[in-house]
Amino acid sequence: MVIMEPDLGVNLCGIDMANPLVTCSGTSGNGKEISRFLDLEAFGAFTAKSVTLDTRPGNPTPRIAECTGGILNAIGIQSKGIDYFIKKYLPYLRKYNVPAIISISATSAEDYAKLAEILDREEGISALEVNISCPNLKAGGSSFGADPEISGHIIKSVKDSTGVPVIAKLTPNVTDITIIAQSVEASGADAVSLINTVAGMAIDIHTRYPKLGNVTGGLSGPAIKPIAIKKVWDTYRCISIPIIGMGGVATWQDVVEFILAGATAVGIGTSLFPNPLVVFEIIENLKRFMKDNEIERLDDLRGQVVVPETMAQTCAVTVDPS
Ligand SMILES: Cc1cc2nc3c(=O)[nH]c(=O)nc-3n(C[C@H](O)[C@H](O)[C@H](O)COP(=O)(O)O)c2cc1C
Repeated sequence: MVIMEPDLGVNLCGIDMANPLVTCSGTSGNGKEISRFLDLEAFGAFTAKSVTLDTRPGNPTPRIAECTGGILNAIGIQSKGIDYFIKKYLPYLRKYNVPAIISISATSAEDYAKLAEILDREEGISALEVNISCPNLKAGGSSFGADPEISGHIIKSVKDSTGVPVIAKLTPNVTDITIIAQSVEASGADAVSLINTVAGMAIDIHTRYPKLGNVTGGLSGPAIKPIAIKKVWDTYRCISIPIIGMGGVATWQDVVEFILAGATAVGIGTSLFPNPLVVFEIIENLKRFMKDNEIERLDDLRGQVVVPETMAQTCAVTVDPS
């Protein structure tokens, strides 16, 4: 069979993406910052940094600590507030022919709904990503995302306040992510995004102080990829809305792995810090992989991890051997 040019396009809850790569919220600023290095249209979609209703200063410094295979961060959702975002950042994002996903963060369901209502009056927004999973906030954040009822309530409040698709961003810092995923799906979420960072801590052995001003933080980067792959695979088998898989993506092979686990789109974050141009490398190599393996569309790969019956019988998780 002669394969035509492979189609990297994916449709994520009605959003047409030219390729499956989307920026992870908070890792590429609000567009302007990363566009010094590459054209935003290199991505299939752009997710902005979580924005809050009012100004938030974020957490005390230091906010980043390097770890083996990744970084710990405790930014604490520093935000100049929604009015500033609409005036200064949204017009910039509108200039690009790339779907803009706006991430919102709040400390009550009412405030999430207010943010959704305000953003609903604006043009050029393809979806809202509801951050109920930040591990670095005293109020809200992952304490919301760890509770299925609260998660569902917030998603419903946002759904009732917007006309664009709603994506629930989930935390890995729970015993069973599928319960949260099922709750947000039942409350109207159009997609889920996972994972946010993994709660962690680092200590300076000389001063004996924690390395982060916030004491604890969230781990991201290649170290968390196996955790993220399992969460995506677990979730894929329990819900029918699409998944944006993320956590430690650094190479084209990682992207394929996330899609095989069940992701429709794939987020890239921490790996953009040392090399934003890795996006081009990933896209070129994905095309080559598809050509070499006669795969026409990425949809043909989604969820196609093979778990042989013998493995399914002995493994510690429930697998449908069919
Ligand atoms: C510096 C930094 C800031 C982040 N800020 C946000 C944020 O504002 N909202 C959010 O939902 N996730 C935030 N995240 C989490 C990422 O979006 C992503 O879920 C996580 O980093 C895993 O992907 P990665 O390993 O590719 O970075 C942040 C991560 C980092 C490293």
